Amino acid sequence: MAGADVWQSGEPYERYVGRWSRLVAAKFVDVLDAERDIRWLDVGCGTGALTSAVVERWAPASIIGVDPSEGFLSLARARPEFAGHDEASFVVGDAGHLPVPDDSVDAVVSGLVLNFVPDPAAAVAEFARVAAPGALMAAYVWDYAEGMQMLRTFWDVAADVDADAAEFDEARRFPLCRPEPLRHLWSDAPGMDVDSVRVKSIEIGMVFADFDDLWEPFLGGQGPAPTYLQSTTDASRDAVRDGMREATAWGCRPDGSIMLRARAWVVVGRLG
Ligand SMILES: C[S@@+](CC[C@H](N)C(=O)[O-])C[C@H]1O[C@@H](n2cnc3c(N)ncnc32)[C@H](O)[C@@H]1O
Repeated sequence: MAGADVWQSGEPYERYVGRWSRLVAAKFVDVLDAERDIRWLDVGCGTGALTSAVVERWAPASIIGVDPSEGFLSLARARPEFAGHDEASFVVGDAGHLPVPDDSVDAVVSGLVLNFVPDPAAAVAEFARVAAPGALMAAYVWDYAEGMQMLRTFWDVAADVDADAAEFDEARRFPLCRPEPLRHLWSDAPGMDVDSVRVKSIEIGMVFADFDDLWEPFLGGQGPAPTYLQSTTDASRDAVRDGMREATAWGCRPDGSIMLRARAWVVVGRLG
């Protein structure tokens, strides 16, 4: 069995995935059919990547970020973009038991979280409980199976080095992160207007200054791949690093930077 994923320390998470989630979040908020001055909830807000994008794009009346990790929330609260934004608040909580009253928000969003929740259907039912009639519900997850090249390459290389790594591969662990399972998850939510449900993709370019900029965040211990690396031997870790260097060489540009693509699947819908 794969071990528990670690989400404790915000700074290494920002270098590993937070900086890329911020790019996806900026595109995600643009595809939402939302309005200014409404009440938002960001479930699994982590270090606040999506919360920031909502504040910037949609000037909410209020936005609550909920996450089980106090370490991530303390970094979110300290971020400069929230200074002077009393409408943004951050609360410890779980997607399955949101610390939010019934019918109290107009939009529920969640970025890169649903696959980490033990019971996604129960979590989405909980989104529907706290959302007011007609509310927007939208989320995105990485396309671990194909389009998220950094992680796809990592797990392919890791499985070549260590056959046991395959069980930690996020594509295998998270079959939810495909268009049809996401569509079903949303369509089955209590009160959802099934005709409003859409699945789309968002792509970003990830530009790393050099190979160290790509590799060192994998040593930060936050999330599945870094958690796996901490559990393996020094020799395996070095072999994965060398394999990653070779496997990402095609993305190397003349100035030494490396460009990889990342695709996220987006699911959106409205309560009836
Ligand atoms: C990949 S991070 C995404 C964080 C942030 N939304 C972003 O886009 O950068 C996954 C987040 O899910 C949170 N998480 C894990 N299990 C959760 C649960 N049961 N309920 C809510 N959040 C959860 C973690 O603490 C972590 O902040």
